[in-house]
Amino acid sequence: MAIIYNEERQQFHLFNDEISYIMELINEEYLAQVYYGRNVQTFNQRNPYPYVSRSSFSPSPADWPDRHFTLDAIMQEAPGYDTSDYRQSIIEVTYPDGTQATNFKYESHVIFQGKKPLEGLPATYIVEEDEAQTLEITMLDAHRQFKAILSYTIYTDRAVIAKSIRYVNASPETIVLNKAASACLDLPDYDYELIQMTGSWAREKHLKRDPLTMGIHTFDSKRGASGSAQQPFISLVRPQTTEATGEVYGFHFVYSGNFAIEVEVDNYEQTRVLVGINAHHFSWQLEPNQAFQTPEVIYVYSNQGLNGLSQTYHHLYRERLARGEHQYAERPILINNWETTYFDFNEEKILDLVDGAKELGVELFVLDDGWFGKRNSDKTSLGDWFVNREKLPGGLEQLAKKVKARGLKFGLWFEPEMVSEASELYQAHPNWALQVKDYPLSKGRDQLILDFSRQEVREAIFNQMTAILDVVPIDYIKWDMNRTMTEVGSIGRDAKQQLETSHRYMLGLYDFLERLTTRYPHILFENCSSGGGRFDPGMVHYMPQSWASDNTDAVERLKIQYGNSLVFPTSMICAQLSEVANHQVGRITNVEMRANVAMSGNFGIMLNLARESQADLAVVKASIEWYKTHRRLIQYGDFYRLISPFESNETAWLFIDQAKEEGVLFYFQILSQASQPLKKVKFQGLDPDSLYEIRGQILSGDELMAYGLYLNHEFYGDFQSKRIPFKKINQ
Ligand code: DGJ
Repeated sequence: MAIIYNEERQQFHLFNDEISYIMELINEEYLAQVYYGRNVQTFNQRNPYPYVSRSSFSPSPADWPDRHFTLDAIMQEAPGYDTSDYRQSIIEVTYPDGTQATNFKYESHVIFQGKKPLEGLPATYIVEEDEAQTLEITMLDAHRQFKAILSYTIYTDRAVIAKSIRYVNASPETIVLNKAASACLDLPDYDYELIQMTGSWAREKHLKRDPLTMGIHTFDSKRGASGSAQQPFISLVRPQTTEATGEVYGFHFVYSGNFAIEVEVDNYEQTRVLVGINAHHFSWQLEPNQAFQTPEVIYVYSNQGLNGLSQTYHHLYRERLARGEHQYAERPILINNWETTYFDFNEEKILDLVDGAKELGVELFVLDDGWFGKRNSDKTSLGDWFVNREKLPGGLEQLAKKVKARGLKFGLWFEPEMVSEASELYQAHPNWALQVKDYPLSKGRDQLILDFSRQEVREAIFNQMTAILDVVPIDYIKWDMNRTMTEVGSIGRDAKQQLETSHRYMLGLYDFLERLTTRYPHILFENCSSGGGRFDPGMVHYMPQSWASDNTDAVERLKIQYGNSLVFPTSMICAQLSEVANHQVGRITNVEMRANVAMSGNFGIMLNLARESQADLAVVKASIEWYKTHRRLIQYGDFYRLISPFESNETAWLFIDQAKEEGVLFYFQILSQASQPLKKVKFQGLDPDSLYEIRGQILSGDELMAYGLYLNHEFYGDFQSKRIPFKKINQ
């Protein structure tokens, strides 16, 4: 791995064994993208700029001698604003004179070993200095004394570039940032299909693939959270790209608030991808000599199809984004009381559930919403984080003690960012909620959002939480967030700074999470936002697992978990076997199917054990036993998508350990069909030259991948599933 600057050709080449990323200076001024793709050992060309004649109304930059050159036509790394590149730009700045023209030119660069942390923001990191190299290129608008410092990190053995920008006001006056993107990548053509991860509450991360067309396409969130409607991710793939073959580019934003990914195909058929904080409800007063650090974007390239892309993201996120004691730890099998009791519980009911769970082999009990204040419905008490003695007379200490005496760990639900109007906290501090002064506030689930941009508000919640966590032996926290933002204003903040609130909120949240997770390193944190409403790489940095969806229906979960797997490794995706009729969609599926789907993630259960049949409980118990002996493989093995639920009545995926010695195939068929065609499942990721023992047969890896297995003729009835372990045999 290296980053080289070729003085003669004014070219930067970032490369490792898998990828190359090449940029060049035009006339020592403009920074152009040249090539990003599979590794090129030596590169000796330059792009034909600026000598190509492109008939255009687009002007040439000031002082440029050749009128055939326009910034509008070149593949730029730092496109400015109002100076002849008419495409989407990385910034929009308002200067003290009210104007906006900004034109960045190369000033200097530096190459260094390693990677710097991004102050106050989640980011990928290094453990050893020699894991990565970083190139920082300073671009300057000399008339404005405004700088963009572009940072590119390349890892030694990952097909990854981590990109961010630091904007610096080197002028003596305050300027206003209205848009400050993190990354711009221009590609020379648009022969791509675009994959987005889209959805809604309880339908998160559905994959949608469409041909890329001309014009500007925006994928964004203005919800104050990354949201369930759109993951801060897109991928561009060649039309012929499959799971196993073909070119793929991925762009994933390490941020949990408002974002925008703009994909623009211009009139020269070039593709621009811009990623950053959404310009909606954003502005930043940048004082003299101050910098604005943007969050980072993770670029991944693969020429081995979507699976190649996923493997790279999975390993990076597990190894260099997640942190802490649980980063590589086997995750406990939990039971959660939410769908069993909702708000209606007491210590006795909870302990009955725990007793039943112990019989089944469950390892962790999670007390969900309703244990605090006067919380008997979702209309009250958020912000009052002290125990409800009517429900739990002996307090959390006693309950935790009793749960632990039964051999289970104890976990607790919080929704720290929220406040109910009917709460002691709100009555005492009505101006602690996010609000636009004297303006009616929209409510979501009857709750308001605390102004986490303010230190004193965060401090009050932090103190309430630590008062519990310092005395109750808590092993796990589910951190929930059940509404998105509206009327985003901050009481007491200067009028000019009101539009900084959304981003300051995120900085406040990250600061809170950093403090809390550092203070309680043994606690396993699970991220939740009405399911997967804020499941993004930013949160992964603080919480190593996420509740993927409130939707626990086995059929719906196939799509949700399959979609998640495009970027997130299994150890981060939580799944639970719940009762039927399913509470979200009313479907009745058999317990084997529900178990097999939930066991394809971090397994848990959410069942009213008193209501389940003995036969079904026996299946749950056997599933828990099986999972315990296979969970390292499932949580930390390599994951391969084989058949997509978005395209078929079947779904298949497999897990295999990194040595390719042991694996398990999961195969699902949703609806039964008479006289159905025979269908094969073709494996991936095996060692072609090894023999595997599978279903009592000895078959070669080659054979399983090329020919596959026929399985669907064994199914009868709706909602069928198979779990097929296999092992390499010593030859
Ligand atoms: C939304 C979560 O996704 C559920 O699992 C549950 O914790 C509820 N919130 C509780 O209010």
